[in-house]
Amino acid sequence: MLEEMSSNLLEILDLGQEGILLLNDREEVLFANKVLGQFFQTTEKTMVGRNFSEYLDTEEAALLHSLHKATVEEPGDRMQTACIDRRDRGQRIEVLYGRPKGKNKPTFYYFRDITKRANAEQKLIERNSFLNGLIESSVDGIIAADMTGKIILFNKGAQNLLGYTEAEARNEVHTTRLYTEGTAHEILRRMRSDEYGGPGKCIKHRVIGLSNEGDEVPISLSGGIIYSGDAKEVASFGIFTDLRQVEQMQKRLNDKQMQLIQSEKMASLGRLAAGVAHEINNPLSGVLIFANLVLEDLPEDSDQRQDLERVISETTRCKTIVRELLDFARQDDTTCEMLDINHVIKESIHLVRNQSVFLNVEIVLDLEPNLPVVSVSTTRLNQVFLNLYLNAAEAMDGAGTLTVRTSAIADGKSVQVEFCDTGHGIPMDIQTNIFEPFFTTKEVGKGTGLGLSVSYGIIQDCGGTINVWSEQGKGATFVVALPTMEAQSQGQTSAEKS
Ligand SMILES: Nc1ncnc2c1ncn2[C@@H]1O[C@H](COP(=O)(O)OP(=O)(O)OP(=O)(O)O)[C@@H](O)[C@H]1O
Ligand SMILES: [Mg+2]
Repeated sequence: MLEEMSSNLLEILDLGQEGILLLNDREEVLFANKVLGQFFQTTEKTMVGRNFSEYLDTEEAALLHSLHKATVEEPGDRMQTACIDRRDRGQRIEVLYGRPKGKNKPTFYYFRDITKRANAEQKLIERNSFLNGLIESSVDGIIAADMTGKIILFNKGAQNLLGYTEAEARNEVHTTRLYTEGTAHEILRRMRSDEYGGPGKCIKHRVIGLSNEGDEVPISLSGGIIYSGDAKEVASFGIFTDLRQVEQMQKRLNDKQMQLIQSEKMASLGRLAAGVAHEINNPLSGVLIFANLVLEDLPEDSDQRQDLERVISETTRCKTIVRELLDFARQDDTTCEMLDINHVIKESIHLVRNQSVFLNVEIVLDLEPNLPVVSVSTTRLNQVFLNLYLNAAEAMDGAGTLTVRTSAIADGKSVQVEFCDTGHGIPMDIQTNIFEPFFTTKEVGKGTGLGLSVSYGIIQDCGGTINVWSEQGKGATFVVALPTMEAQSQGQTSAEKS
């Protein structure tokens, strides 16, 4: 009966896929099952009674020997695990071993071939690290959160975009903090709706993200919901593309387009003005000459003298306007000189300082020393500056502060002059009109509206720009930028070369 049982037991031990081994203290085989024999390319029967290390290579023998020693020194109920890597055969064997406490107890081992499992694990690790690499090397931010809004993935792109470290994002930040108020819920609503790319998906749309410092970051976001096998929502994810550069470029493009439209408009107005001014100039000169001749012939006490003098003064006024129009249309040529802008400013300020409109105006000069020289006509530049001073004084109603600031910009390739006043400012809707000829907000007869258009023409003629920054009620700043001599000559040289 007992014999039958033990033979059954032995058969059972051979049914599994584990090699079983019992060793005595001298590392001699007390028992080995069939599977073990196969592991070591022999038969279990030949193994019994022999030293186990005979079946092993030196490395494996050393490992088994150390395991054996450990069990002899510290027997116990718990099984331990070790691993034999047979790289040359591409095989991996897990060894479970132990030795019960007590005298003359054997050490027992289970050898299990885990090659398939290990390979699958290795593949999984490789696949995971590939996916991880993919996520981490993406320029776009990739963020995933569980359905409570706790962040579970925050790649490098997201860290660069929003400024949080991965640990901060995962431990301290709720998804709602990544956007302006209400946005996170709106995104989830879109993902759940089928109107934005199908249920569980959300196609690219613009949202405003919030950085760790509270800065608003425009983002193009697409994303979706991840479902479990039983269609439960497990997590949501989003792919964030930084729109800052694109939007800045778009803005620059729009500005350039506006500038182009504006300068095209000014150019055609210039051509029109030049034509009209040219036609009117000659008859006006004729009227003046003949009116003066008639005046000379009139007796001193004639009643008509006063009327004629009025004709002459009004005609002279018309001629001034025509001259300004010709200026705007760059009809008269004036020679350029090498100028220190600071010097021109000091001189022109000196001219206006004592005029009545400037009596209560504080003039602050903030001039950067050693500015590069520019090549412009002094007369024309003076004309621009005087126009700007007068406009400022008029906008401040004769009392306030006018600051004139100079600086070198664009790596010393341009000189910039800012004229800041504390006047009533310019409403947004007329800011694009103020450079047009005859545009004025003054009462009829008080201004021609040519001051800024003439200035615009002069500055453009010098290859410079004039712009305005203003808010109603908060003063105005006119910014004139002129290319330096050096930049101009470099431009010419490169133009000649090409
Ligand atoms: N510093 C300023 N602050 C507020 N508004 C200004 C300023 N400079 C110009 N403007 C606005 O721009 C308009 C056009 O200015 P521009 O110098 O061309 O003509 P004007 O001053 O009205 O007339 P003119 O110069 O012929 O006397 C002004 O009427 C005014 O509305
Ligand atoms: Mg003016």
